[in-house]
Amino acid sequence: MEQTNATIRFDGREFECPIGSNLRSVLVRNKVTLYNEGARFLNCRGLGTCGTCAVEVRGKLSVMTRIEQTRMNLPPLKGHYHLRLACQATVQGDLDIAKHEGFWGEKERERGPLQST
Ligand code: FES
Repeated sequence: MEQTNATIRFDGREFECPIGSNLRSVLVRNKVTLYNEGARFLNCRGLGTCGTCAVEVRGKLSVMTRIEQTRMNLPPLKGHYHLRLACQATVQGDLDIAKHEGFWGEKERERGPLQST
């Protein structure tokens, strides 16, 4: 049987959403702290231009849109291959999500919370 809902895990919390949901919408709706510092007020509201909704994701997401590829190739997100823009991605299966520190969430620790030992 085809999976219709996905489980999202974030910082010890767990919630569900329909497959195909926009990841940013799901996180905001579930009151996840998606934006750090002033990015809470200074973000593009999902247009894919600011990059401040970057999160580390383990699990199945949609492929990157052209807008996401373009933004992820600009500083300070360039080279952060574990990060995705929540506003540009749709949920395709169960996910583990982490938000790192820094204005964009770009300060990945040496061993992030989603990296296995
Ligand atoms: S909210 Fe600005 S890039 Fe996602």
